[in-house]
Amino acid sequence: MRRGLGSVKGRLAVVTGAASGIGRATARELAGRGAELALCDVDGERLERVCHELMARGALVTFRKTDVTRPEEVERFAAATLGSARAPDLVVNAAGVLVLASFRHTTPDDWNHVIDVNLKGPVHVCRAFLPSMIARGAGGAVVNVASASAFGTQSELAAYGSTKHALFGLTQALADELAEQGISVSAVCPGFVDTPILERARVRGDDPDTARHAAAALLRRRRLSPERVAERIVHAAERGIAVVPVGVEARALWLWSRLAPGRVPALFTALRRLRSRT
Ligand code: NAI
Repeated sequence: MRRGLGSVKGRLAVVTGAASGIGRATARELAGRGAELALCDVDGERLERVCHELMARGALVTFRKTDVTRPEEVERFAAATLGSARAPDLVVNAAGVLVLASFRHTTPDDWNHVIDVNLKGPVHVCRAFLPSMIARGAGGAVVNVASASAFGTQSELAAYGSTKHALFGLTQALADELAEQGISVSAVCPGFVDTPILERARVRGDDPDTARHAAAALLRRRRLSPERVAERIVHAAERGIAVVPVGVEARALWLWSRLAPGRVPALFTALRRLRSRT
């Protein structure tokens, strides 16, 4: 059985969360390699701007404002993209939100919000697009943008990290279920990426403003660009790679979680102590 898509040129690629950050960079990367695009985002205005920019460069793009937490909206996006006869070759689940809060500060509504977008969003998208991919019988690829938090979760990412662990589990189950159909399912797991994710994040704690600024500064300092992550996403789809840690932190945490899974919390505790001393 072939692993991965091979070249994305001329293939139909669906990208969620395409109006910003990693989703937008992935749309640009795919367009640059000659893929046809079907893009969605909950922010319709920004999505439209991104799509017009891509079309001005000659890309073939359809798009629709879609909230991935609403299965009926996702079904309408799929129907508009596929009509009655088409199937996607690639689905990239990049839409996501961040809740930066320890467990004790995370509200029930925060849990629902982050689970609805980060876990149930990809579920709704896969339910809408996979049947046509399977029925066509020509294989394909799904890439779920998880996070290094899927390898180990620190206290400030209690809810967010839980969704990324769950998305990692969903990715594995789908990879098993779809292997016979020649459909690869990958988890791309970046560390800190310089995107505007913190502008829209829910931040809670004793001093949320300082925490938001400190976290945003950390993302900028790490200098891992969304474009670099986009390259790895396309590479994962083309080669059918199961797990792709991106960036130094993600690779280190991936290794640590495999060598000493029981010592992941101790690692985060030690890092926090170190940070508080500097
Ligand atoms: P971003 O905020 O720049 O982009 C996320 C996009 O998802 C936005 O355009 C937003 O409008 C869209 N979105 C949010 N809720 C939506 C919904 N209900 N329906 C449809 N679209 C929705 O963030 P970024 O950094 O590009 O994040 C993309 C993915 O990468 C997320 O899943 C995030 O968890 C993951 N990630 C990000 C990292 C980072 O450091 N920025 C690190 C590891 C993973």
